[in-house]
Amino acid sequence: MAAAYNELLDATIQHLENLKSRGVRHVAVTSEVLKALQSPIEKPRANAPVSNPRAPISAPLEKTVAPKIISTAIPSATSEPSAIGNRQSAITAPSVIRHSSSEKAAAIAALRERALACVKCPNLAASRKNVVFGVGNVDAQVMFVGEAPGADEDEKGEPFVGAAGQLLTKIIQATGLSRADVYIANILKCRPDTPGETSGNRKPTAAEMATCIPYLHEQIDLIQPRVIVALGATAVEGLLGKTVGITKLRGNWQEYRGTPLMPTYHPAYLLRNQAMSEKRRVWEDMLAVMGKLEMPISEKQQNYFLKA
Ligand code: URA
Repeated sequence: MAAAYNELLDATIQHLENLKSRGVRHVAVTSEVLKALQSPIEKPRANAPVSNPRAPISAPLEKTVAPKIISTAIPSATSEPSAIGNRQSAITAPSVIRHSSSEKAAAIAALRERALACVKCPNLAASRKNVVFGVGNVDAQVMFVGEAPGADEDEKGEPFVGAAGQLLTKIIQATGLSRADVYIANILKCRPDTPGETSGNRKPTAAEMATCIPYLHEQIDLIQPRVIVALGATAVEGLLGKTVGITKLRGNWQEYRGTPLMPTYHPAYLLRNQAMSEKRRVWEDMLAVMGKLEMPISEKQQNYFLKA
């Protein structure tokens, strides 16, 4: 009995360590299990010595499917790179531990400090002017996620401040929100370097994305937006691990660990393709987001970018 108990415990610890090495920092547990984890070790049965000092679980196993699910942290996820998007499939339960705004702000500030000092991609650390961590309201209901900083963002240390960013700001404002209401971040916190080139951008490599993505996972975990908007194919790939074309995915609700995620075109695409039909598509995605957030939608808003 004690051997089986310890085997189960070791398997559980191994499983958690595997999740952690893949970038997962939260697992769903019931309040009963959490309470049991915090209580003193119970012997598996009378007179049997507890041979494994790490053995704190005393809750009956069937209780682990109790309806009240909360999430608890597996510490220090950003110490190791994770595979892109794989935590999505590992965990489906929503996090419902709520932090106060000041706790969130402090945690985000601490995370920002870590990101600002990051040198995990030596080439990017050497070429960047600024780490572009993210900006906005820590209590935002909606979070916009882009690909990576461009030259303007690198210069200012703020995401989406160049031409594409100005268009994103207009899109946000068209919903009735402002940049200060939402949170904006990127898959990569550093501008992808372009050695030997004086201008231009490049897509982040898979390795860069896998190295950087834990910062974004933590931002999302802390902010707990009600909706995520993934801007373009790279954002979808980074968050969901999906490489299906954005044309197919956009407009169709996806899920990031229980949070509804709307894929839409990157604003840079709208700058390249000024067709009314493409603007309308992005706007319809925003209308869906507004609907999900139960925001008021005027008739005027309903009809933006429809031909007269
Ligand atoms: N494009 C992005 O994906 N992110 C930015 O911050 C700017 C442009």
